[in-house]
Amino acid sequence: MLSTRRALAAVVSVATLLAASACGSADEDPGATKVEVFTWWAEGGEKAGLDALVSRFTTDCAGQRFEDGVVAGGAGINAKEVLNARIEQNDPPDTYQVHAGAELADYIAAGRVQDLSAEYDSWGLRQALPQGLIDDLTVDGKIYSVPANIHRANVVWANSQVLAGAGILRTPRTLDAFLKDLAKLRKAGIESPLALGRDWTQLMVLESVLISDLGPKRFAGLFAGTTNWRGKAVTTALNHYAQLLSYSNPDRDSLDWPEAERLLIDGQAGYQVMGDWEAADLEANNFRAYEAFPFPGNDGVFQWLADSFVLPTGAGNAEGTRCWLKTVASADGQREFNLRKGSIPARTDVTGAGFSAYQVEAMKDWKSDTPVPSCAHGSACPQDWQNAMNAVLGGFSTSAEKNITQLQNALAATADQYAKG
Ligand code: BGC
Repeated sequence: MLSTRRALAAVVSVATLLAASACGSADEDPGATKVEVFTWWAEGGEKAGLDALVSRFTTDCAGQRFEDGVVAGGAGINAKEVLNARIEQNDPPDTYQVHAGAELADYIAAGRVQDLSAEYDSWGLRQALPQGLIDDLTVDGKIYSVPANIHRANVVWANSQVLAGAGILRTPRTLDAFLKDLAKLRKAGIESPLALGRDWTQLMVLESVLISDLGPKRFAGLFAGTTNWRGKAVTTALNHYAQLLSYSNPDRDSLDWPEAERLLIDGQAGYQVMGDWEAADLEANNFRAYEAFPFPGNDGVFQWLADSFVLPTGAGNAEGTRCWLKTVASADGQREFNLRKGSIPARTDVTGAGFSAYQVEAMKDWKSDTPVPSCAHGSACPQDWQNAMNAVLGGFSTSAEKNITQLQNALAATADQYAKG
């Protein structure tokens, strides 16, 4: 996959795309009915993607007006709290962003979202989306959300100049090689070579390490109740994780992902583990001296997540929401959104033409790699489990002693509570 610097330098300039995308406000019809779209895409590459969808929606959905219900905070860390409170008060937005998989299943089980099976039939979505994804969106034969994309989580982003400055010219393929490179960077004067942010970004690092040390099948089993969180391989992974953490910035717990990304851009760090929304965001920041590769030991494994949109029970403007969902589902909508978001279309009939070298590789990998879901981004875990894991990792990060046995017991306890096995 995607490891060459040259290939990535050739990425289509998202800055150009940004300029071409407008949020459509100038063309809005003041008499139109509003559709409140609730996301956490507030700035950078995320906002650019949203703006592209809005632009298409404004063109395709006459009489409807986009209203931005954004609540900032990576991975929806703040948005989900606000959303859940609104849902509790029977005040849902007209539509909201939710991850396909376990996270969506929560909303389905609670009766919070409406069946979209008829829309899937009339929009031809059963043919346009991969069967595996349809399965992840379906509960008891009904299908409840429309995916906008596929993101990959287990990716390392690197500052090529920082690496070259430390004489690192090869992509690390194993965890040991990665740890050696981190030591090399520190020796070369980069005190905190691994840029890291708060709890959920730490969970992303942990999940990548678990994939390396357990392999995809046993990794997926951790969340399906078939792999023992108290086992030896998990202990090995947690030791690796603690080593990685020791190379990260001490202020990690107070940073969101774009602030950690800033450390990478400014050359204060050499690496960051992050999903491929980072591709769009680095471009939006006009930073091109980067490379990307699968987390060491994750070759051939695609840790996926998908942003999807729903028709909530009690949505104020169901007709407008249907038009939003149709836009999200359409080949044009998916193309324009994903060009700017760093992800790839969920539809299989959108070609790679015009997409960045990174995205074309990701499309290829998505077809050939072994897919595993993500807990930090809701494809593997329900929200309560995500929150519990985040709390455990945040606690570990701030603890002075970094006790691995305690960490393992605490993680295992979250699985005891939430795994469905
Ligand atoms: C979402 C992405 C988003 C990322 C960072 C993920 O959970 O699926 O769309 O870019 O969080 O905010």
